[in-house]
Amino acid sequence: MSEHPPIPPVEITEQAVQNAVDAALAAIATASDTATIRAARAAHTAEGSPLSRMNAAIRDLPAERKAAAGKLVGQARARANQALADQEAVLAEVEARAQLDAETVDVTAVPPRRALGARHPLSLLMERMQDVLVGMGWEVGEGPELDHEWFVFDALNTDPDHPARSEQDTLYVAPTERHLALRSHTSTVQIRSLLERGAPLYLVGPGKVFRRDEIDATHVPVFHQLEGIAIDRGLTMAHLRGTLEHLARAMLGAEAQIRLRPNFFPFTEPSAEMDVWHPRAKGGARWIEWGGCGMVDPSVLRSCGVDPDEYQGFAFGMGIERTLQFRGDLNDMRDMIEGDLRFSRQFGMVV
Ligand code: DAH
Repeated sequence: MSEHPPIPPVEITEQAVQNAVDAALAAIATASDTATIRAARAAHTAEGSPLSRMNAAIRDLPAERKAAAGKLVGQARARANQALADQEAVLAEVEARAQLDAETVDVTAVPPRRALGARHPLSLLMERMQDVLVGMGWEVGEGPELDHEWFVFDALNTDPDHPARSEQDTLYVAPTERHLALRSHTSTVQIRSLLERGAPLYLVGPGKVFRRDEIDATHVPVFHQLEGIAIDRGLTMAHLRGTLEHLARAMLGAEAQIRLRPNFFPFTEPSAEMDVWHPRAKGGARWIEWGGCGMVDPSVLRSCGVDPDEYQGFAFGMGIERTLQFRGDLNDMRDMIEGDLRFSRQFGMVV
């Protein structure tokens, strides 16, 4: 037995046909997408719909009614089918347009601009200082930030009990038997480059250095230095002085001067503290401590396999943060490490 109630036979009257057409047209007119128009077709024009069943029923009518009924039902079906085709065309158009809109690529659109970032004022200054020396024919060399104690101290003629070696000053990396330290100065680059390249040598070594310092307005525990070393036949302190003066003038203007004061460093003999005359210092022109320098100690040359009777030379080292500080009249070194864009922008950075 069928589960569906029997389908009642259709009657073909003018009213029944009109009702079927009206229902079909209403459903078609309100169909708003592919799914609803498909449903309207199934309900009102497809096989099993009232109009289709009326069409089938014509066959069973008495002969004299067939022509009139055929015309009535035929016109009704034609109207419904036409309305269906028209609405389908409209919806296809609407849907195609919507899809095109959704997939439109605006080839003229400007993509959102991401800031690429900019060089830090310290990096720029370090590069400028290198450039001055490179302009005189010097090479640029580098060394590792974590280095063996031999490069940091021994080869630089530093006594085993020199205070700079103490754990209060230098950061060692465990296990201590490996003798690895975060370099406390870039003077290590002197040793590495002498060993690798030998003499004669004119080399500038920029880099990051580490010390156990508390952060305050004039100290940061991770900072940068620029190291210079020149080894050749017959170099004297006059060459050292001339080189530093040239660098000072490139940094601070033509009136800048260099002053050397006696000092001690294990790796130079004689050694000097170098001051720079800053003609435009905040509060008036004055001498400012800039770094250390001297004639490379013969024992350093010997450590690197260079004969001190044949080659002599000079070396110097200065802090980049310090240089940026007095060159830019900055009160507080901490501003340099905080990453605040307002700091960098003062130096004309494009961010
Ligand atoms: N390495 C020293 C420091 O960090 C600076 C220095 C002094 C470097 C004398 C030199 C030099 O090359 O000859 O304080």
